[in-house]
Amino acid sequence: MKTLWRDARLATLAGAQGWGLIERGAVVTEGETIAWVGAESDLGAGLAVDAEHRLGGALVTPGLVDCHTHLVYAGDRAREFELRLQGASYEAIARAGGGIRSTVAATRGAGDATLFALASERARALQAEGVTTLEVKSGYGLALEHERRCLAAARRLGRELPLAVRTTYLGAHALPPEFDGRADAYVDAVCAWLPALHADGLVDAVDAFCESIAFTPAQTRRVFDAARALGLPVKLHAEQLSNQHGAALAAGYGALSCDHLEHLDDAGVLAMAAAGTVAVLLPGAYYFLRETRLPPVAELRAAGVPIAIATDHNPGSSPTLSPLLMLSMACTLFRLTPDEALRGMTVHGARALGLADRGRLAPGQRADFAVWPHEHPAALAYAFGQHPRVRVVVGARDVAPAR
Ligand code: NIG
Ligand code: FE
Repeated sequence: MKTLWRDARLATLAGAQGWGLIERGAVVTEGETIAWVGAESDLGAGLAVDAEHRLGGALVTPGLVDCHTHLVYAGDRAREFELRLQGASYEAIARAGGGIRSTVAATRGAGDATLFALASERARALQAEGVTTLEVKSGYGLALEHERRCLAAARRLGRELPLAVRTTYLGAHALPPEFDGRADAYVDAVCAWLPALHADGLVDAVDAFCESIAFTPAQTRRVFDAARALGLPVKLHAEQLSNQHGAALAAGYGALSCDHLEHLDDAGVLAMAAAGTVAVLLPGAYYFLRETRLPPVAELRAAGVPIAIATDHNPGSSPTLSPLLMLSMACTLFRLTPDEALRGMTVHGARALGLADRGRLAPGQRADFAVWPHEHPAALAYAFGQHPRVRVVVGARDVAPAR
């Protein structure tokens, strides 16, 4: 089926930088793919299509790609938020057995239906702000059976909702209580579970939390070796709270992305540049943990490292479900330009997932896009907290509005 989408202002992001704006633009889709993009005046006169949508001059961007979320879990950590505001640090709460472990207990105690319902509601909220592709990490099960349940819930989201889901195995997120004092034995288990989860078709990539309160660089290497043995790509929670030199380690494995990166040093930047690893910046976690050390944006730019932006939705460090707020924070807190921020949640977000077929409005790309009520795309980062009405199109098909 061939469809013409016309009378739109297109922010194509097609070039290497800038918006790639086309005024009075049109998109022709064929099946689930974009066949043509350009100015309406350049449309062939005799173009025959099966359907036509007039967009009334509305702004069209590529569908948003949220490349870092921990969407599947039960419970919340509002009480921990109170404690942090009273002075307890995120690390101190984690060391005392709270933090991620408290979410693990709630997640293990929730049934499959509940886990799926909770995740599905969150995914719909993301979709209501233009998300068409979503990454979901495990990491709140921390036992084979529970990691499997979480990854299966993520896969089910991709089957039952009109959005694409990529799954990431984050068994090395925290030490579960049954492995207290036996971190190396737990890493052995994390590595041993991976082939089974992969055989079930549940794993697209492998991640780890390399941090003083989580896993060491040596333990991270073992997890990455297990991924490499199966041909799976890796990503890393790196340099979030301290510099463990995790980014350089991950780049050595050709990592798709290193995420957080507030404590990234120059050697890490250069290693990422050489490996083509994407820097995923997570302003929600920076804000919510009241961090003061900024990720090295100027250095990443200068080295040509692609920068992505994501929600990092999770109950402990970034409970937001607003990708647009993250675009705003990427600009106000991290000093990205609005077009860099949007590129970070489209083209570069897709690249952080190893996906080259989406993130731009260009021939051959998937026909995933969002139609916004704004005049200029800078408004996506500017108008924070406004919840604009967005029309979401996935594979050239309209998605029913989620709210
Ligand atoms: O990306 N850094 C580790 N993982 C999450 C937080 C998880 C949690 O606190 O529940 C993050 O910030
Ligand atoms: Fe995270």
